[in-house]
Amino acid sequence: MRADGVEVRGPGELFSLEGQVAVLTGASGGLGHRFARVLHEAGAHVVLAARRKGRLVDLAVELDRATVVECDVTSDADRERLIEQALHVTGRLDLFVNNAGISLAGPAAEQSTDDFRRTIEVNLTSVFVLCKLAAAHMVEQGGGTIINVASMLGVVAATPVSDAAYAASKAGVINLTRELAAQWGREGVRVNALAPGWFPTEMSARLFGDERSMRWLRRNTMVGRAGQLEELDAALLLLAASSNSYMTGHVLLVDGGWTAR
Ligand SMILES: NC(=O)c1ccc[n+]([C@@H]2O[C@H](COP(=O)([O-])OP(=O)(O)OC[C@H]3O[C@@H](n4cnc5c(N)ncnc54)[C@H](OP(=O)(O)O)[C@@H]3O)[C@@H](O)[C@H]2O)c1
Repeated sequence: MRADGVEVRGPGELFSLEGQVAVLTGASGGLGHRFARVLHEAGAHVVLAARRKGRLVDLAVELDRATVVECDVTSDADRERLIEQALHVTGRLDLFVNNAGISLAGPAAEQSTDDFRRTIEVNLTSVFVLCKLAAAHMVEQGGGTIINVASMLGVVAATPVSDAAYAASKAGVINLTRELAAQWGREGVRVNALAPGWFPTEMSARLFGDERSMRWLRRNTMVGRAGQLEELDAALLLLAASSNSYMTGHVLLVDGGWTAR
């Protein structure tokens, strides 16, 4: 660490999370599973949160620094317990990844108000509350990093994969990220958004299972194909790395060029 507080690391150490505690929501499958392995491999102790505890336990047995917390991100009590359990590890909270999300797709005319509200609750309101809870500790300890998993569908329309609630929630996550970065920047808390394109998970299974949809996907993606989960590793580590201390309020699109045209 230099006298001006800037951490200078060699290329081999730039993305190390050695000694850090990283909380990850939505760790029971899909992108979350992959993110957990990547953060762990970079040296972090990972705190894995989701509702399906069995899946978290199965993942945790493969990792030597992992804590499992059964958590519904829409529950106040669960959110507070998640932060408490994370602080139990070493008393620090270095990285918080808001990855849990849902999509209850359907044309707007048929999407119920309840489904819209539920999507906003899981994808946006919970992110806001968890950011606040995490940042309170990060400010106290002198800094920390938050990554909100948005989507390229927070930047462009989703149709023909119609989901107004999802598109609105992810656009909300993107500007929430910018606003929180502005409010907390001087207190050492960086807030960035990772905005993936199309990746094969439970959430996108219907699209990936339909050849006509896949042809449309390949036609409209600059690299001519869907993403593979490993193709998010570098972007995740870039946002997570404390060496990346001058990047905040950023939205990192990893979408094979979908939004670039
Ligand atoms: N796949 C893509 O192409 C894609 C593209 C852009 C953005 N994303 C975003 O990436 C994130 C991960 O999505 P995915 O594709 O990996 O989907 P997924 O396989 O369906 O995983 C969603 C995760 O969110 C968790 N979750 C859902 N509701 C929750 C709740 N109320 N409380 C706690 N956890 C909850 C699920 O765990 P439990 O069910 O066990 O609680 C699961 O671990 C989401 O925010 C999604 O919007 C995905």
